[in-house]
Amino acid sequence: MCSNEDAWNILRQEILECQQCPLSETRTQAVPGEGPQKANLVILGEAPGRNEDLQGRPFVGAAGKLLTELLAGAGINRSTVFITNTVKCRPPENRPPAPREREICSPFLQRQLLLIKPKIVCLAGRVPAETILDTSASMSAMHGREYEREGQTYYVIYHPAAGLYTRRLIPTMEKDMLKLKSLLDEKTGQATPIREKQRRLNDFSRP
Ligand code: URA
Repeated sequence: MCSNEDAWNILRQEILECQQCPLSETRTQAVPGEGPQKANLVILGEAPGRNEDLQGRPFVGAAGKLLTELLAGAGINRSTVFITNTVKCRPPENRPPAPREREICSPFLQRQLLLIKPKIVCLAGRVPAETILDTSASMSAMHGREYEREGQTYYVIYHPAAGLYTRRLIPTMEKDMLKLKSLLDEKTGQATPIREKQRRLNDFSRP
């Protein structure tokens, strides 16, 4: 029988050696993802960019720096999150991954999610939101909202790169991240129950 650790190693190796789509011909290396194997939160981006392709790690460029800051601002340490992408190899010139490339790559993500069993999968941007939720709704309609699909909770945020191009989106992105943290606390049983909050308020107002 195959242990969880074996399953992780086999999956990682399959991703690194994959040649099922043409992205494998132009990549430097595949980027499987990184983070704890039992993370409560998974962040799903679009595809590796130039820095990720060179380093073999997700979200290590400017968008990644902003993502790390947004997470920290909401009280989420990046090291507690599993971060990966809809496709594991960089599309040439950073074009969006084609529907067929996403389809071919999707079993890798499905297997990662089966192993991790996260409470929430956060979809960062239009490509992961469209791919997973099978919708063409606009990002302005989807961001900051929770979705359920086959027993899995998803939550949509703007892609961090959107904040780099459009700085006025950043306050909205910060608010969405705070909402994600509350949702995560709720799902992991870390939210302070209303009764406890009331007791603390009562204690505070006593002379
Ligand atoms: N953008 C993404 O969508 N993913 C990365 O890993 C880096 C940039």
